[in-house]
Amino acid sequence: MTAKLAVLISGNGSNLQAIIDACRGGFLDAEIAVVVSNRKAAYGLQRAEKAGIPTVYHPLKPYKDAGRDRREYDADLARLVEEYKPDLVVLAGWMLILSSDFLDRFPYRVVNLHPALPGQFPGAHAIQDAFEAFQRGEIKETGVMVHLVPDEAVDAGPVIASEAVPIYPSDDIETLTKRIHNVEHRLLIRALRRLIEGDE
Ligand code: GRF
Repeated sequence: MTAKLAVLISGNGSNLQAIIDACRGGFLDAEIAVVVSNRKAAYGLQRAEKAGIPTVYHPLKPYKDAGRDRREYDADLARLVEEYKPDLVVLAGWMLILSSDFLDRFPYRVVNLHPALPGQFPGAHAIQDAFEAFQRGEIKETGVMVHLVPDEAVDAGPVIASEAVPIYPSDDIETLTKRIHNVEHRLLIRALRRLIEGDE
């Protein structure tokens, strides 16, 4: 049965585009029921609109301005996502950390993409952190992982797929970022296929 996805984004949405293309091309038995962004200017919203996918803009600022608890934002986010009855919630470049007020509503159904290998470089600056570690001679490669998000631990949880990405002495942050993104677009689809169809 075709899986329903909710995709949460904050920016460019190139990984969202990879999902859209995989669904369209028949590589993934899924449909995107909704794309949610916490940023109005996220280019991914335009990608979704172009593909005819419903979009929701859910900003954090009004909550902050009103002195409301961050957990209220997460609970409201969960409510709006629930309306679309997704089988999986995919964090594809979603840059806000989610609390249990969101995660507990979708147990073992939230999937995160992170541009580092399991256990390495959690947080928003993983590619830069890996690049600097390489320059200090501490690592020779970095990577990409797709994992479930069972709890509030950041960029951690049962790994569905991971792949190493080499770093070369000739790299700058742009070339490394591009290499990582290329792997992300492939690995995210492979991981979703594993979850949805139970195979490679
Ligand atoms: C990706 O590198 C993802 O791993 C990270 O944010 C980036 C989003 O890229 N969390 P895009 O918006 O999918 O192009």
